Amino acid sequence: MKRKEFLTACAAGLVGSAVVPRLAQGEPHVTQPWPSVSSDDDRFWAFLRDQFPLTRDRAYFNTGGLGASPYAVIDAVKAKMDELERVSETGHNEELWKSVKGSAATLLGCDATELAFMRNTTEGINVVANGLPFKEGDEIILTTHEHVGNALTWMPLARRKGLTLRRFEPSTASAGENLARLRTLISRRTRLIAIPHIVTTTGLVLPVKEICALARARGIWCFLDGAQSAGMMPFDLHDVACDAYATSGHKWLLGPKETGLLYVRKEMLDSITPLFVGAYSADFDFLKDFYSYEKSAQRYEYGTVSIPLRYGLGAGINFIQRIGIEAVWKRDRALADYLYDGLRSIPGVTVLSPSSPDLRSAMTTFVHDRLPHLEMQKHLDTFNLRTRSVTEGGLAALRISTHIYNSFEEVDRVIAGVRSA
Ligand SMILES: Cc1ncc(COP(=O)(O)O)c(C=O)c1O
Repeated sequence: MKRKEFLTACAAGLVGSAVVPRLAQGEPHVTQPWPSVSSDDDRFWAFLRDQFPLTRDRAYFNTGGLGASPYAVIDAVKAKMDELERVSETGHNEELWKSVKGSAATLLGCDATELAFMRNTTEGINVVANGLPFKEGDEIILTTHEHVGNALTWMPLARRKGLTLRRFEPSTASAGENLARLRTLISRRTRLIAIPHIVTTTGLVLPVKEICALARARGIWCFLDGAQSAGMMPFDLHDVACDAYATSGHKWLLGPKETGLLYVRKEMLDSITPLFVGAYSADFDFLKDFYSYEKSAQRYEYGTVSIPLRYGLGAGINFIQRIGIEAVWKRDRALADYLYDGLRSIPGVTVLSPSSPDLRSAMTTFVHDRLPHLEMQKHLDTFNLRTRSVTEGGLAALRISTHIYNSFEEVDRVIAGVRSA
């Protein structure tokens, strides 16, 4: 449909749910032409919502836990699986690697050769943690609000190698306060700062560029847990200048479950030794006792993998890119800001997410002074609202993630639900 035709259809009330018939479960999906109205237009988002099989019986606010996939992703996975199962081949091919990593590199602001496919963020963190050359007595700085993926990963390693984990409480007050808190933990023994880009508990965006610069100036490595940032907000890894960054494909990137990416700055490739190796990690000749790791981050990949999932991840990234990451961020934040204001107006509610818009993301976390968070969650369940309980860092709160398939009407339902509690 041309822009003009689309606008005419809009005027006739034919956009979004009217243009795209709702499908019964299992019914094949027919991809609709992409609308050419601007992303400032609500009708654009109504159209996008129709690209997801996600039920409308329940409003889904847990993208920080798991993102919903659009038909474009589901269809890519199914089609590739059907194709490969007809011939029983793995489907591994270099062109696919190049194209998916190329799209991811454009989105994340790095080189495709600095990216490795992972199963999730946690796997990427494990590669970094177990691959860095720590010595007994080395110290690692983290926050007190780590998700298990960036908490447990370091604990047995610290015990095994005699490392010390030092933690600072992330402040929602200001970027400067976080830098100050982190600075007080730096000692001669600090080897690594391993912190989230966006804190899982409150959605706080940490000043990662300044933190990486501080680390670099002191000869300290900087690793970012990016589970919550890729696909939610625009950033450029080369500009951030971290040493490594891990993320999930199955959250804000809308990819299939069990997909992820690990970025390792090219100069760090030889410092992070691959923990698991096998086919695709290296050139080798077993009989001559020779091996040489891949020059790229592919050295962290090994063995047979699911090609349909890789295709699906590529489709998820392309879907985000087609909307434009700036437009995604604007939409996600508009929903989150609307929610923030709505929650703040309810007596008894305290919003734990930062009050400064510059520090906020698309995850909004709150508590109620009379209703414990799990009871609040149950109460919101009765309104068919899927939220996420937050217990990291000793909190007992509820988190609401707002992504492109959410609407202002759904956010109104959260506000009304909390108000009625
Ligand atoms: C900050 C953070 N790190 C890591 C993870 C773990 O992600 P995955 O399950 O994809 O490994 C999450 C998941 O919610 C998270 O929020």
